[in-house]
Amino acid sequence: MVLGLGTGSTAAFAVAEIGALLASGKLSGIVGVPTSKRTFEQAQSLGIPLSTLDDHPRIDLAIDGADEVDPDLNLVKGRGGALLREKMVEAASDKFIVVVDETKLVTGLGGSGLAMPVEVVQFCWKYNQVRLQELFNAEGCEAKLRLDEGGKPYVTDNSNYIVDLYFKTPIKDALGAGKEISALEGVVEHGLFLDMASSVIIAGSDGVSVKTKPFLDMTRGGPVYGFGVTLQL
Ligand code: A5P
Repeated sequence: MVLGLGTGSTAAFAVAEIGALLASGKLSGIVGVPTSKRTFEQAQSLGIPLSTLDDHPRIDLAIDGADEVDPDLNLVKGRGGALLREKMVEAASDKFIVVVDETKLVTGLGGSGLAMPVEVVQFCWKYNQVRLQELFNAEGCEAKLRLDEGGKPYVTDNSNYIVDLYFKTPIKDALGAGKEISALEGVVEHGLFLDMASSVIIAGSDGVSVKTKPFLDMTRGGPVYGFGVTLQL
């Protein structure tokens, strides 16, 4: 099984558990494709066999955290800076399982008021910061260059910068917004992960629940439409 290994404080628990299961012999026959240098280092230190999208362009399952989850299981990701590799790996995955706590649930993307990241090339980043802000003036958007702890521009694993978009109101048309952002020259990727998650595992004060997307089942002699279900575990 080829497994996409996510990035962030939540995904790190999953990676640690996979490492522990491999070490105990309860799990075997997996190869991991990490979504960041950080996750690569963690997985390598745990002895998880690793590969890349070049060698495994089709991934069976990816597991990752998220920054925001809307009612249709669309996501904001990338506050940890790994959005580009995450999107590449997760888009190549047959199934993508997201693990969050209930604080990540929003009614509309951008609704948490926290950053929606956009990875841009370093060249003339200000030009793109201004263009990104102008795209979302109506949403009261503020576009800010992400800085590291030393106050210098934060540099991604792919040597790019990140412009974080802070919305005052949720994005009305996330699909349209994603297309407009991607159309800007010099934008590498954005943190809107739309129609990608297969299911979301949510840790809440009442326990753990699982939300699954509507699906099309062709295995029962014709198309059968299932509906998103929420299971309380
Ligand atoms: C990394 O770039 C992100 O997409 C993370 O997956 C996301 O920020 C969730 O991180 P936490 O699990 O640390 O909240």
